[in-house]
Amino acid sequence: MHAIAIAGYGGPDRLQLTQRPRPSPGPGEVLIAVHAAGVNRPDILQRQGQYPPPPGASDIPGLEVAGVVAATGPGVPWPVPGDRVAALVTGGGYATHCIAEAALCLPMPASMDMTRAAAIPENWFTVWAHLVLFAGLRAGESVLIHGGSSGIGLAAIQLAQARGARIFTTAGTSDKVARLNRMPSVTAIPYREQDFVEVVQDATGGRGVDVILDMVGGRYLARNIAAAAPDCRIALIAAIDGLVADGIRIDRIMTHRITISGNTLRDKPIAYKGAIAAALREMAWPLFEQGAAGPIIDRTYPLAQAAEAHKRMETSAHFGKLVLTIDNPVDD
Ligand SMILES: NC(=O)c1ccc[n+]([C@@H]2O[C@H](COP(=O)([O-])OP(=O)(O)OC[C@H]3O[C@@H](n4cnc5c(N)ncnc54)[C@H](OP(=O)(O)O)[C@@H]3O)[C@@H](O)[C@H]2O)c1
Repeated sequence: MHAIAIAGYGGPDRLQLTQRPRPSPGPGEVLIAVHAAGVNRPDILQRQGQYPPPPGASDIPGLEVAGVVAATGPGVPWPVPGDRVAALVTGGGYATHCIAEAALCLPMPASMDMTRAAAIPENWFTVWAHLVLFAGLRAGESVLIHGGSSGIGLAAIQLAQARGARIFTTAGTSDKVARLNRMPSVTAIPYREQDFVEVVQDATGGRGVDVILDMVGGRYLARNIAAAAPDCRIALIAAIDGLVADGIRIDRIMTHRITISGNTLRDKPIAYKGAIAAALREMAWPLFEQGAAGPIIDRTYPLAQAAEAHKRMETSAHFGKLVLTIDNPVDD
């Protein structure tokens, strides 16, 4: 099969089209002929040597795919060969064939093509873990979602809309702010021009927000705490601005009963991710089927041009998802 390998850590040019033996599914696994693979920021971190695959995972990048099941291993009641699925994988997505856990496969929403279906798993599993399982976001609550134009940010916005929350989000350009402001229940804050703490505090009458989803870390943690309402839950998913946070007001964490949590999805047990898959199938899939939610695609690239997709993501010019496409994986 064809795959994109990381030929040494470094820039996008380290991504190289190569040939690998087609893998066979083991117990509980399926082999997917990949028609589309989502690109995620963690793929870039992996290419740079900052996010190694967990033990047992493929060294080929790619955390989500959509395609047709080509074969199944022992003990797989569903899916069966020929089924069209979207799947969360621990690696190996940038390839014409990919192994997935059957428990982490979801049926392709009828309303979607392969490109859009491939753009769901990594973002929706992640935001479900943080906004639902950790934060328990409820109707009528307010949420601050940093990086609203990212794949993660847009999935979080759609999930928060479905839950009936009031949404604040940050973005770096006026174009992104304008697009986000056109979405229902969303107030977008241009973080380079305005202080998100001031905007949130003004808009909530000095109360702050109930939930914060943060991928920035570093200098944002102290500011998130300043923007927090009583009983706020702050979910940390990345640290774009740095892994060390100064200036934290411990007194405010205590007086406001603030809870801070972090989580990485990729290395978690199959049972944990399988429970999220089941919840998504029950509660998020109907939204996709009805067209009430679904990924926004920025651009697609043929698999061989994975480096171009990484370059675009690194400029942060994208709004939504970047997806790699494959025309005839079955024949590969
Ligand atoms: N913990 C987990 O399990 C998990 C899983 C998946 C992803 N992640 C993390 O989630 C993040 C988003 O992933 P993605 O694949 O959706 O990547 P992405 O599309 O590249 O998103 C990165 C976002 O960060 C925003 N950003 C950068 N600096 C910012 C700042 N100072 N304030 C506000 N926003 C800022 C950018 O927005 P602008 O362009 O507007 O600046 C951009 O939208 C990544 O950091 C990724 O590593 C974590």
